[in-house]
Amino acid sequence: MKAVVLAAGWGTRLRPFTHTRPKHLLPVAGKPLIRQVLGMIAATGIEEIGLVVSPNTLELFRSALGNEPGAHIVYILQPEPKGLAHAVLCAEGFVGHEDFLVVLGDNLLGEGLRPVLEKFARERGHVVALKAVEDPRRFGVAVVEGERIVRLVEKPAEPPSPWAIVGVYVFRPSLFAAARRIRPSPRGELEITDAIQKLVEEGEPVYAHFLCDWWQDVGRPEDLLAAQERLFAALTPRLEGAVDAATRIQGPVAVERGAVVRNSLLRGPLWIGEEAEVEGATLGPNVAVGPRARVRGAHLRDCILMEEAAVEEATLVHSVLGPRAQVHGPGQASLLLGEDGRAVLKGGPA
Ligand code: TTP
Repeated sequence: MKAVVLAAGWGTRLRPFTHTRPKHLLPVAGKPLIRQVLGMIAATGIEEIGLVVSPNTLELFRSALGNEPGAHIVYILQPEPKGLAHAVLCAEGFVGHEDFLVVLGDNLLGEGLRPVLEKFARERGHVVALKAVEDPRRFGVAVVEGERIVRLVEKPAEPPSPWAIVGVYVFRPSLFAAARRIRPSPRGELEITDAIQKLVEEGEPVYAHFLCDWWQDVGRPEDLLAAQERLFAALTPRLEGAVDAATRIQGPVAVERGAVVRNSLLRGPLWIGEEAEVEGATLGPNVAVGPRARVRGAHLRDCILMEEAAVEEATLVHSVLGPRAQVHGPGQASLLLGEDGRAVLKGGPA
């Protein structure tokens, strides 16, 4: 079976970080989000992956994934992000007349992708992954009878069920014909929800796969931190960089080759990237210090520092710093600072 990963789109909710790169290339737990998604696919044994991207991001993806081990990636261009069903239609030539897996390039599942594929193998009908959520209004929502989906609605004001449509589907090739028969929604997109609703109306069996573990959709900056925390639960501790004897380590900590850590307190889970420098700092839990970033005398908790970011004497919580962003203390804050951004935090530390 082939997999189609959808990674075009604007990523507007993740600005300023998506001004310079697609959200799929933002780092989560030390790796670009898309590599975490491709890792889930690789774990199923699927080797042929069609990656749908926007034309202006193609080269960025190519250089980030050039040496992705194991998978054979075919790049598919979606000229404009006109909706998920439109993105899937762009992949029709790649898929051909076979069954196929579709995964949104910004979705992570705790249980991985094996269970949904197993459900498909058992039922031999389209399968849509669902997760019960407290407020389904910002998702596509499915109405279920037993194992079958009988109705779907996109972002309903009054949700008919708690079942949010997760961005993971296994389709039979008849999905393409259904997607061609739908019209743009009020927001101007060809919605995958409408294409699946068409399948249901035409009498094709569409089965629900109910997720048993967590689901993380990465659409907003806080989702980057939440996704990182989820992935860190499986962090393998390793100290490949130089950590001095004055540094204390609690919990799972990964320090990559070439990184230097002096006189600091590292509270895992946390990750320190290649050639980063950390001195006199208290880090963690849930902190990623990107490659070549520098942290001196700072306190960081729930933070992502992208490559070459620098923090001195400041206390940061729930913060994301873009490449080369710089923060100087001594104050404390919760910041979203884009590429090359600068912030000076006045006032005493907390
Ligand atoms: P969304 O997060 O719904 O859309 P977006 O990426 O444009 O973000 P925002 O709403 O913040 O502007 O997209 C979900 C996934 O599907 C994401 O991986 C991008 C992908 N996608 C496409 O590949 N093509 C599309 O036309 C759209 C709308 C999304």
